[in-house]
Amino acid sequence: MTETAFIHRFEPAGNAGSPPLLLLHGTGGDENDLLGLGKMISPGSALLSPRGRVLEHGMPRFFRRLAEGVFDEEDVARRAHELGDFVAEARQRYGIAAPIAVGFSNGANIAAALLLLQPDVLAGAILLRAMVPLSDPPEAALGGKSVLLLSGQADPIVPASNSARLAALLWQAGASVTHKVLPAGHQLSQADVTLARDWISEADARAA
Ligand code: MLT
Repeated sequence: MTETAFIHRFEPAGNAGSPPLLLLHGTGGDENDLLGLGKMISPGSALLSPRGRVLEHGMPRFFRRLAEGVFDEEDVARRAHELGDFVAEARQRYGIAAPIAVGFSNGANIAAALLLLQPDVLAGAILLRAMVPLSDPPEAALGGKSVLLLSGQADPIVPASNSARLAALLWQAGASVTHKVLPAGHQLSQADVTLARDWISEADARAA
């Protein structure tokens, strides 16, 4: 598979010191959706933004689901590996470092799967409204990686127990996890943008 197998957008870095971002949209989104968010939370970062290759009634997604919140886990694993290959090839083609994933909803879930299945692909992740993507993931080594998990208190799709379980799973694998529950639903709020922006600048400061 070549990286062109994923329709994607790439915007080069305006500031070589800013970490590249891998933008992963939610169900029904596409490669254009999160470019604005990426620019808001980390102006100057290179942006790599693929479109999910699975279609659900015409809506792009990153993996198949059997029902809302019920995942086809074999497909999750297969698609996470495809995405990992895409990132590796895009890194060579565009000359970028390992990116920080910024995923929303379905995009956050595939980012979580990627962290668990191919820990070396991502430098870290911002997971917006994520769920546990795999019920029995392999032991991952996430030492040195930071993850920001932002959940919505009134999210009708992601139960609080599920996002807490994801935070624990990532933490047990060695990641440094910041989990915040916002007074929000499944949709993003201004607080998500502010917290994500602050977290990236702190991560930048830590890396400097
Ligand atoms: C998923 O399928 O990944 C989650 O249910 C979130 C969504 O896309 O609605």
